[in-house]
Amino acid sequence: MMEKSKKEKRYERLFGQISDLLKDKDYPLARMATIVAVLHHKMDYFFWTGFYLLEDGELIVGPYQGPVACILLEKDKGVCWAGVNRGETVVVQDVHAFPGHIACDSRSNSEIVIPLKTSEGDVIGVLDVDSKEHASFDETDARWLEKIVDLV
Ligand code: SME
Repeated sequence: MMEKSKKEKRYERLFGQISDLLKDKDYPLARMATIVAVLHHKMDYFFWTGFYLLEDGELIVGPYQGPVACILLEKDKGVCWAGVNRGETVVVQDVHAFPGHIACDSRSNSEIVIPLKTSEGDVIGVLDVDSKEHASFDETDARWLEKIVDLV
């Protein structure tokens, strides 16, 4: 597991890089693709990094990096839908203990989901990150990934 102060510094640097890359770029899908590319390649414990987006009440995969994932997530099941329905970040230390967890890849063991919201506060999707290790994500990941998702 990445040491806390190292993680903090890494996120601080990536936040600056992502902000620079996104400056004056008005395309949400391109912004999401850039965010996941930077995160996935700079955070070594990110095994799958991507967005799921709400389309007509369904949660469909968006820009992502990592192994091939489920295209459509069964409604109100699993961690991503929990993030949508709660409207807040969900941190899962052991996905196998999470009721209804959807295993797109059996190698994932822990997960974090951050809701993507409009400026009015409506949830329009989530950022989902999986790790092969248990308990990879903590409040440092939650705080920084929330700030990064705000950049979309
Ligand atoms: N585990 C997620 C599904 C998406 S994959 O992790 C990429 C869930 O339970 O919603």
